[in-house]
Amino acid sequence: MLSVLEFYSGIGGLHLALKRANSTTCVKVLRAFDWDPSASEVYSHNFGGGIVNRCDILSLNAIDLLPYEADMWLLSPACQPYTVLNPNAKGETDPRAKSFLHLMTSVLPELVTQRKGPRCILVENVAGFETSTTRQVVLKTLESLQYYISEFLLTPLQFGIPNSRLRYYLLARRDPFHFLPSEDIHSESDPRRSIPNEGPDWIDPRLQVDDSVNYSVLPLRNFLDEQDYPSSSSPYAIPKKILRSKHAPLFDIVKPCSTRTCCFTRGYTHMIEGSSILQQAEDLDTTDTFNAYAIATASDASHKDNNDPLELLLSLHLRYFTPTELLRLFCFNLPPNRVLSTGGPAAMMSSYEAYLSSSRSSTRDFTFPDTTSLKTRYRLIGNSVNVYVVSKTTNYEVSQDTLRKMCLSDVSGYDILNGAVSGTPCIIDWSVPEFDIRFIF
Ligand SMILES: C[S@@+](CC[C@H](N)C(=O)[O-])C[C@H]1O[C@@H](n2cnc3c(N)ncnc32)[C@H](O)[C@@H]1O
Repeated sequence: MLSVLEFYSGIGGLHLALKRANSTTCVKVLRAFDWDPSASEVYSHNFGGGIVNRCDILSLNAIDLLPYEADMWLLSPACQPYTVLNPNAKGETDPRAKSFLHLMTSVLPELVTQRKGPRCILVENVAGFETSTTRQVVLKTLESLQYYISEFLLTPLQFGIPNSRLRYYLLARRDPFHFLPSEDIHSESDPRRSIPNEGPDWIDPRLQVDDSVNYSVLPLRNFLDEQDYPSSSSPYAIPKKILRSKHAPLFDIVKPCSTRTCCFTRGYTHMIEGSSILQQAEDLDTTDTFNAYAIATASDASHKDNNDPLELLLSLHLRYFTPTELLRLFCFNLPPNRVLSTGGPAAMMSSYEAYLSSSRSSTRDFTFPDTTSLKTRYRLIGNSVNVYVVSKTTNYEVSQDTLRKMCLSDVSGYDILNGAVSGTPCIIDWSVPEFDIRFIF
């Protein structure tokens, strides 16, 4: 069994990812820590009561964590100190960075000294963390404690999910189960842009000079609720006041056929620039319609006719994405009909499409308690993680761990699929992409 402590647990995206990644292993989250009452309620609603400890993580000490003897720590600390969206981000000196630094530089060394430190650690944060002094401090501490480190910058887009959410991931493992030597990295290195054997490095297609790397991404329609056009009283309709504002053209307007959305932050529905909204009237040209609206509002003629130019924009049937749609884009829940298809041959399938088409299990849907308001749902999802990307990352971490065990010991205790099983230590050919390992802790 893999025993886990989850810090900054929110609604439990890391917990869900770990379960999805290791369906053949018994994973037990012994305790989750977060001070947010709404997030903790949603967590308990989905994972059961008695796991979340609502406390300030800054108040935790080694003596509190020692009894758990956890194998793994999951951490997704506050990202405001590091986000590139915040020009005043203070990094290490931001008070919101304090509890994470306390855990990593004070609590962890004490546990390791007592031989009770976790053997694997996963940290998730925003892109921007990799240039922070917090990262430098944490890497130095981990290296001094004999942890081996691997770092990634990954976005759901590179797995075929139509959402741009570039995130930083740090995987640390303590001797003797560390990453393969070539994969150890040091404070000076840049994070990797792909997981080994999980497709090419991520290069934003908008920055590519040629089409050398093609990503096949599922169209948004797979992730949408079955919805009629929203009425003006729908909570998802874009308020007329906002549509009339001069900032409305700054929305990122996407259609069901689109293969990209923006990040969806905790402030979704309260921001215009960089917020993706859906145009349900797919046949209308967005730019032409906005141009026609601008001309109509500038001319007197339409006013004389009593035609409200806003009707032009209303004909686009614009709306916010619903929380259930965001839960699908963040891979908490699977697409309802599994329609899929980027239309390409199987070899061109994205990682996520291949996962969906081979996945036979019907997972229980992640839900919100009825008492969670719409605003809170958006905030909590915006704070959370892409479950598929994290599950791929943790799968890499845990399978590396398994690999180490197999290289160091007799493999006969392990159940290996599609690979040679023998009574001697084995070398695994990583060039075989479908190599599948079942591991027993
Ligand atoms: C980026 S979110 C993590 C989201 C989470 N991984 C999920 O899937 O929802 C950060 C979380 O840390 C919590 N948090 C921040 N500082 C904290 C502290 N000092 N003590 C306890 N919780 C804290 C916030 O309430 C928030 O839920």
